[in-house]
Order: sequence, then structure tokens, then C-alpha cells
Amino acid sequence: MAVERISSDADLDAILALEEASFNNPTTREWYEGELKRPDVCFIYVLRAPAHRVAAFCAFWLIAEQAHINNLAVLPELRGQGLGTQLLAAIVDEAAHRGASEVTLEVRESNTAALRLYAKAGFERAGVRKNYYTSPVEDAFILSRKSR
Ligand SMILES: CC(C)(COP(=O)(O)OP(=O)(O)OC[C@H]1O[C@@H](n2cnc3c(N)ncnc32)[C@H](O)[C@@H]1OP(=O)(O)O)[C@@H](O)C(=O)NCCC(=O)NCCS
Repeated sequence: MAVERISSDADLDAILALEEASFNNPTTREWYEGELKRPDVCFIYVLRAPAHRVAAFCAFWLIAEQAHINNLAVLPELRGQGLGTQLLAAIVDEAAHRGASEVTLEVRESNTAALRLYAKAGFERAGVRKNYYTSPVEDAFILSRKSR
């Protein structure tokens, strides 16, 4: 399995389908198309698996020494097999390689699977954003870890 930067319209279509399958408020095609125009700030990676061109994806921003993960998801049928862990480790390494000293993200307080994934990867709670999410309204935990 390989972690590669997004490289085609087919990759974007697969990411958008995975967004739809994973989130109540999926990120839009317009957002991705806008972010793809600033490849020095926004980094979008896909995890390739033998039978799946896009088994998982992650998008992060890199601003100065801070990387911020915007989105990360694994295909529903491939969850619970370590792919999220593998992709997240590759993203932290990639962010460090590109100069990040810290990686941050926000996660819904009820997202147990994601909270465990991040805790296992060394992320710790750095704060709370009250009522950050809609549909349903929920707090976000801000998590962070050093990347090097
Ligand atoms: C969160 C997500 C990316 C995890 O990906 P994954 O490939 O299933 O994760 P892994 O198999 O690497 O599991 C990592 C850890 O997460 C925890 N975990 C995974 N799925 C879980 C579940 N359904 N319930 C509880 N814990 C779970 C486990 O602790 C696991 O470690 P362990 O197996 O050693 O105990 C995946 O569930 C997903 O795509 N969810 C929808 C999108 C999402 O919520 N993204 C995060 C936004 S911040």
C-alpha cells in the first residue's frame, strides 16, 4: 500500500464519494478545487490499496511550522484494519518532512473511533471549541502532537 499525493480527477471523485459516505456535512467539490490551486499550502494524500485506488484520504494545511489536518477518512468497508493508523503516521511524517513541528486537528466529541485513532497516534487534547459542529450541534476537541 502506498500513500501518494492526489494526482487525478478520478482521485478527487473518489475522495468526494468517501466524504459523502463518511460525514454528515461532507466537504464540497468547490472547496477541494479551490485548495488544489494552492499546492504549497494544502496537501491532499490518498492511500492506495490493491483493489481500491483510494482506500483512504487525508487533507492538511501547512502554514509555517504548523500542520492542520482538515479531513481524514477510510472507506467504510476497510475500517478497523489499521489503514487509518497507517495513513495518519504517513501524514505526520510527511508534515514533519515539509517542516511542520506540530500537527493539530479538530474532532467531534462523540467520534469515538477517531478519538481512539488519534490518541493511539500520540495526539493529546489541547482545547475545546464549543458548538463547533452542526447537524448535530456538538463541541470539537482540538488535538495536537509534536511531529518531530
Ligand atoms: C476514524 C477512522 C479514520 C479510523 O480509521 P480505521 O482505519 O478504521 O482505524 P484503524 O483501523 O487504524 O484503528 C485505529 C484505532 O481506532 C480505534 N477504532 C477504530 N474503529 C473503531 C470503532 N469503530 N470503534 C471504536 N474504536 C475504533 C481503535 O482503537 C483502533 O486501534 P486498535 O484497533 O489498535 O484498538 C474511520 O473510522 C473513518 O473513516 N471514520 C469516518 C470519518 C471520520 O470520522 N474521520 C475523522 C474525522 S476527525
